Amino acid sequence: MGGVLTVRDVLGKTIKWLGEKGCESPRLDTELLAAEALGIRRLDLYLSPERPLTPVEADRLRDLVRRRAKGEPVAYLRGRREFHGVELIVTPAVLVPRPETETIVDAALEWLTSEALDAPQVVDVGTGSGAIACAIAAACPAAHVLALDISEAALEVAARNIGALGLGDRVRIDRSDLLAGVPADAGLDLVVSNPPYVAEDERNLLDTSARDFEPALALFSGPLGTLHTSRLADEAWTRLRPGGALVIETGTPAQTARVEALLRKRFGALAVDPLPDIGRTVRGFLARKSLEGVGP
Ligand SMILES: C[S@@+](CC[C@H](N)C(=O)[O-])C[C@H]1O[C@@H](n2cnc3c(N)ncnc32)[C@H](O)[C@@H]1O
Repeated sequence: MGGVLTVRDVLGKTIKWLGEKGCESPRLDTELLAAEALGIRRLDLYLSPERPLTPVEADRLRDLVRRRAKGEPVAYLRGRREFHGVELIVTPAVLVPRPETETIVDAALEWLTSEALDAPQVVDVGTGSGAIACAIAAACPAAHVLALDISEAALEVAARNIGALGLGDRVRIDRSDLLAGVPADAGLDLVVSNPPYVAEDERNLLDTSARDFEPALALFSGPLGTLHTSRLADEAWTRLRPGGALVIETGTPAQTARVEALLRKRFGALAVDPLPDIGRTVRGFLARKSLEGVGP
């Protein structure tokens, strides 16, 4: 990119170059990174196509685009990501929040609405950036959320997001190995989780961005991808009140089938509902603890 370049020039060249490098969404990524390098909104790129880039802006964009071509997620390059209507700070210490997790948040919010509780007690297990905890608290002003993670580094990011979104009075964080830090008689209304669920032998199915840049602690869960979920099913069942619910995200069809079986065994065959997204792909399950509080 030599000489004086306009916004139009850099958009065209960068979209083409990222596409040739195998980037799956070259236009979107280019727009987000160009807006970042220029310190403007994405829309403004198209309102001032003849605007020349300063040498500093051009250098900044070149650096971001080269890193993107090597697989670094756009969210890490920008340091933030939109999720379910909230903007989150995102660093390499946390998983980049995914659109499929919004299906899980929608299901959790729908269940909270149907229960119409005064002050529902919700726990987000494996909170990472705090995505699920913050999205639920932002959309459900009655909810009190405990956001748990085993990673101190992730909890620091979650704390920044909770503070930046002004949710500190209703979202607390704590370090815990799944629900081990929560008393068995907690009587929770809702446990929600996007736990690690990639099976060790599915490592090669991950794209470079996830495999090389996102924390392994956030991704892998034993040989079958169910190490966390099987523990969580038991730990959540114990800590939920009778009639309480677990909403949990799953991964590949094979891992999803394994999770469905273990949830039905723990919660009862009729107490588990699949959670399809708008494309009808099952993204997780909602499991209800019986009103009698007894297992199947
Ligand atoms: C798939 S990420 C989900 C992050 C976030 N909830 C989201 O949806 O974007 C899983 C998270 O679980 C955390 N984690 C892994 N093992 C854990 C454990 N044993 N106990 C608690 N959290 C754990 C990881 O640090 C990571 O933040």
